[in-house]
Amino acid sequence: MGADNIAKEIHDGVMELSFDRAGKKNAIDRAMYSVLVDALEAAARDTRVRVVLFLGRNGDFTSGNDIADFMNPATFTQDSPVMRFIEDIAAAPKPLVAGVEGLAVGIGVTMLLHCDLVYAGAGARFQMPFVNLGLVPEAGSTLLLPGIAGRQRAAELVLLGEPATAEKMRDYGIVNEVVPDGTAAARAREVALALSAKPPAAVRISRELLRGRDAGSIRESIAREAAAFRERLSSPEAAEAFSAFAQKRKPDFSRFE
Ligand code: COA
Repeated sequence: MGADNIAKEIHDGVMELSFDRAGKKNAIDRAMYSVLVDALEAAARDTRVRVVLFLGRNGDFTSGNDIADFMNPATFTQDSPVMRFIEDIAAAPKPLVAGVEGLAVGIGVTMLLHCDLVYAGAGARFQMPFVNLGLVPEAGSTLLLPGIAGRQRAAELVLLGEPATAEKMRDYGIVNEVVPDGTAAARAREVALALSAKPPAAVRISRELLRGRDAGSIRESIAREAAAFRERLSSPEAAEAFSAFAQKRKPDFSRFE
């Protein structure tokens, strides 16, 4: 399953990883995270790979973590595929580039905060619905997002959890460039290719210098968020949100304190 839902190609020094789960808006399940982890770990070792490029197929980037997997208590354990994916992107030794079309939801947004360069189609929509699901943000985003966008903008994205336009995400510093719909992959490929031709050690050391000071605090933030996330996954608020999603109804949080 998972292997079919992540398309992997390597050419000209670029490893291209594309979310490809038609019919589920490219939601990422456990098997897909495992494929991503294997690919990222191979990219780190393979000297031919200079850049990792994340894309989505079927008109979307990804609708985030598979909601059904949230009901499995093993989902966010320390050695779960999702946690390993988060740790791998946070510690990636090679540049990460993303091209976003359509929906980028949940981890589809928080993973972008670990990318070096992000390109988005004009119609792309970004959403962090963690709070709406009774959850908290993950992947180091509670540290990275206020740092990139500012605290009030982070609060807007996290607490209100409404979809944001590509233009807004560019203004907030999360997207480098907004391009016409349908051209984000091509633009991101062009940039990835340019990066792959640069002297690799200079790129690697420059990246380390750019984020080096934050590395320890990002790891701590990931661990703190994961502990809160695990607790929240089994909360009555999350149970209400997940069953509302499954039943295609509006959740009702009025009985919670
Ligand atoms: N996990 C599991 N299934 C998902 C999913 C997800 N994250 N996102 C979408 N899907 C499924 C839907 O259940 C639906 O499946 P079905 O046709 O078998 O019922 C299918 O993908 C299409 O989604 P649908 O909701 O009909 O599309 P839409 O265009 O009306 O809405 C979203 C798209 C992304 C806004 C909506 O699907 C959504 O809110 N998904 C959940 C996103 C989310 O909360 N992710 C977790 C972040 S922490």
